[in-house]
Amino acid sequence: MKILDFGSLNLDYVYHVDHIILPGETELADDIRLFAGGKGLNQSVALARAGAPVWHAGLIGGDGGMLRTLLEDSGVHTDYLKTDPVARTGHTIIQVDRNGQNSILLSGGTNRMITDELADETLAHFSEGDVLVLQNEISALPHIIDRAFGIGMKIVMNPSPYDGHIASCDLSKVSLFLINEVEGMQIAGAGDPDAILRTMAERYPDADVVLTLGSAGSVFSGHGQTVRQSIFHVHAVDTTAAGDTFTGYFVSSFFAGRPVKECMELASKASAISVSRNGAAPSIPSLEEVREADLH
Ligand code: RIB
Repeated sequence: MKILDFGSLNLDYVYHVDHIILPGETELADDIRLFAGGKGLNQSVALARAGAPVWHAGLIGGDGGMLRTLLEDSGVHTDYLKTDPVARTGHTIIQVDRNGQNSILLSGGTNRMITDELADETLAHFSEGDVLVLQNEISALPHIIDRAFGIGMKIVMNPSPYDGHIASCDLSKVSLFLINEVEGMQIAGAGDPDAILRTMAERYPDADVVLTLGSAGSVFSGHGQTVRQSIFHVHAVDTTAAGDTFTGYFVSSFFAGRPVKECMELASKASAISVSRNGAAPSIPSLEEVREADLH
């Protein structure tokens, strides 16, 4: 089994500020740093650091070399990562406040230049039983889902950031959803966690669902099984990529056939460690660090 992550790659410009800036306000940032990011890239790095065999497909511009290097240094295969030398890589402007909370302004760049043809070319290298991991920061998602489902791949969907594009995707083809409470409300139209899980089960009976609930932990629901996981406590420095770290670690261990309780615990611990560190991809721990961390 191979894991393909067809997803975004961003240059994250991170500004540390006292508080997230308000409309009309000017604030002096404490510092600015450039990190590798993008939900797709972060999840690939988390998958690889968790020990999974992962290929990252996507598109970067001439300015995106550091993203390819970061993936390769993390053990991610980049055979299907393309470069358009004259285009601009996706980028973000991220404010991180004194409590580690963030706000993200995203410019799609090359992530929005993925075509159906590029998708077909990439998916031709994968087969039945392989796993496809998707987020919502690239173009051509509806086509990628249809084509991968036709091949017999298992589709994992993290519909983040949730927007109107998701409505054009056939989500009945998804095998595993990883959603937070807000995305759960947007997809299921339901209010509380139990209602979200009930609606998801009615609407997508063949799919498993992991619902993350911030400080209230996370819940897995699927195939007659419900598993709850509480969070591990750390001092929050930067929450960027916490969800991506959870996704990568959960998917890696789930498709390696580990018991769900073990997958939830591992993902939750890895995610907590990432919150205690700065940046997106650089904050994602290795499997060894997760196993050795003494967190409660
Ligand atoms: O999930 C965190 C990521 O979201 C950041 O790395 C940023 O690039 C945005 O895509």
